[in-house]
Parts: sequence; C-alpha cells; structure tokens
Amino acid sequence: MTTEKIEEIKIQNPSQAKDFIDKQTAAISCAVGQGYAINALSGGVDSSAVTMLGHRALENRLKTYFIDNGLMRENEPQQIASTFEQLGINVEIWDVQKQFFDALRGVTDPEKKREAVTQTFYRDVFADLVRGSQCKYLLQGTILTDVDETVAGIKRQHNVFAQLGIDPEKEFGYQILEPLVQIRKDSVRKVAQALGLPELIYDRIPFPGPALATRIIGEVTPERVQTVRQATKIVEEELCNKGAFQYLAILHQDRVTGMRDGKRDYGQQIEVRCWDSIDARTATPTQLPYGLECKVANRITQEVPGVVSVTYNRTSKPPSCIEAI
Ligand code: XMP
Repeated sequence: MTTEKIEEIKIQNPSQAKDFIDKQTAAISCAVGQGYAINALSGGVDSSAVTMLGHRALENRLKTYFIDNGLMRENEPQQIASTFEQLGINVEIWDVQKQFFDALRGVTDPEKKREAVTQTFYRDVFADLVRGSQCKYLLQGTILTDVDETVAGIKRQHNVFAQLGIDPEKEFGYQILEPLVQIRKDSVRKVAQALGLPELIYDRIPFPGPALATRIIGEVTPERVQTVRQATKIVEEELCNKGAFQYLAILHQDRVTGMRDGKRDYGQQIEVRCWDSIDARTATPTQLPYGLECKVANRITQEVPGVVSVTYNRTSKPPSCIEAI
C-alpha cells in the first residue's frame, strides 16, 4: 500500500474554483485526447462535479451512466437523470440490481460487503460497459477523504485503487481519472456551484458510493434495503432543514421485542444519525430538538413495516464513523 502524499488543494472562493475547473478540464482533455470516456453519476456532489467537468472537456465523447444497483434511495435514478437532462446532459440508467444483490447474498462482514460492491461495480458492470464501447477511461469522483480513510485502513472506500497498489488497467481493463482527488467535500461544493450545478446538487448531503449497503448491519437483501430506504426517506424529510452535514438511518441486525395492537411484535431496529461536520474527517452529533427526535421515531415505527424501535446516536466521530459499515 502506498502512502505517497497527495497535495491538498483548498478552494475558498469562485476565482479559485474557476482556476481549478480550467486546470482539470484541460487535464481530462489531455489524458483522453480524441478518445472516449465513461463515468457513473450517482447524483452526489462528487460524481455530479466530475460529470460536468468531463462533459466540458469531452462533450459527447463522455458517456454518463446512472448505475442502478438497487441500493439507492427512493426514485433516485429517475430524479438524477431528469436533473441532468435539464442541464443538457444525457444520462443512461443501467439496471444491474440483480448483479449486486447476487454478489451481496449471504455476505455479512462489513469489509466483505464493501468488497462485493466494489468488485461488482468495477470488475463486472464497468468492465462490461467499457468492453461494449470505445472507452478506455473511467472518470470518477474520488476525493481526498476517501483516499485518507482507505490508506489509513479505516475503511476500504469503494473507489480507491492506485493508493492501494492496484492498477485498474491491469485489474479491470481501463484507466481511471480522478479530477477531484486533491480536494475535500467543502471544496467540491464550491467547484460544483461554479460549474453551474443547481443548489439541490451542490448542497446535497453526502451519500456513500456503496449506498444503502453501508447502512445495513448484516445481510443486504432487497427487503432489508426497502426497510432502510423507507426510514431514510423519513429521516431526510424531517432533518433536511437543520443545517446538518449528513443524516441517515441504519438498519440493525438484532431484533427486539415490541408490541403492536396489544400483541407481541418481535421487530426490527432503526438507528438515526445526524452529523455536524465540515469535511467528514471528524463529526459531532447534531443537537436536535427532543420533539423532533420523537417525531422521527414515531413516523418510522408507524410508516415502516416491521420496525418497533428507533434510537438516536449521540456519539462523535471518532471513535464512531459517519456510516455504519
Ligand atoms: P465514514 O463512515 O468513513 O464516512 O465516517 C465519511 C464520509 O464518506 C462517506 N463514505 C463514502 N463515500 N464511498 C464514498 O463515496 C464509500 O465507500 C464511503 N463510505 C463512507 C460518508 O457518507 C461520509 O460522508
């Protein structure tokens, strides 16, 4: 594993953002030449910024896909494709849900789950897309925090290769370009804004590459994803205007005894986390009003089938992490 230091760039104002955009656009043009590239857009600020940079540099020689892995939030593929359509960028939704659920079947270990998602993305899905096209490059939105945590051995972020000594060309058959690898989330937002992305994208809360799989303790099945997806929707609706950095729902593996309609209900547990942070390296729990915590708990237990218990986590990062796996 290489710990070679990547030089950090901090972007604090529009002129620095413009400078960064010009340099990265030129670098993509230079690397790809007259060739073709692909990228996967998830709608997060990182992949959205890369999509814009890539289209500036390559125009229609960049083909953008939304990989529908079955692990995204409600209606996310359609909403993101339509947002980018309005920006003049065509996004193809690529339905590979079955491939991901097959790879995740029976896997409970956190790092093995991450590895299953990584391998399905890069070895199976992208390699197929690249083989079926003239593309030799994959553009992706790896940021400096992803590299830090992977190299430090905290979490194997799904999109980090070179720093682990993995050569994507040898391993998967294509090269990876990472225009955002020198900056962190707060700088990415400034770049995204300067690229003309709408506020709902440049101010979007972070969402991890392995998506809802990072919020399921134990096996990831379509049914368990549906449970955490419904809880996520409620958490996002209720906490979106509290100024928090990120807020999420986690599905636990253990069940607890509850009661419903006068009968025993041995049900599922959801943990809610809401974080204040600048760049995700450290974070503290947001102080939410007690009434709001209760409202979230009531809505989840009433609206999400099978859930009888909701907790709010008040731990800081470290020692916690933002996501559960
Ligand atoms: P943790 O859980 O490590 O998360 O405290 C730090 C930030 O990174 C996001 N995250 C990821 N993003 N791929 C990503 O693109 C990943 O594998 C991944 N894991 C965590 C997380 O949502 C938080 O903002």
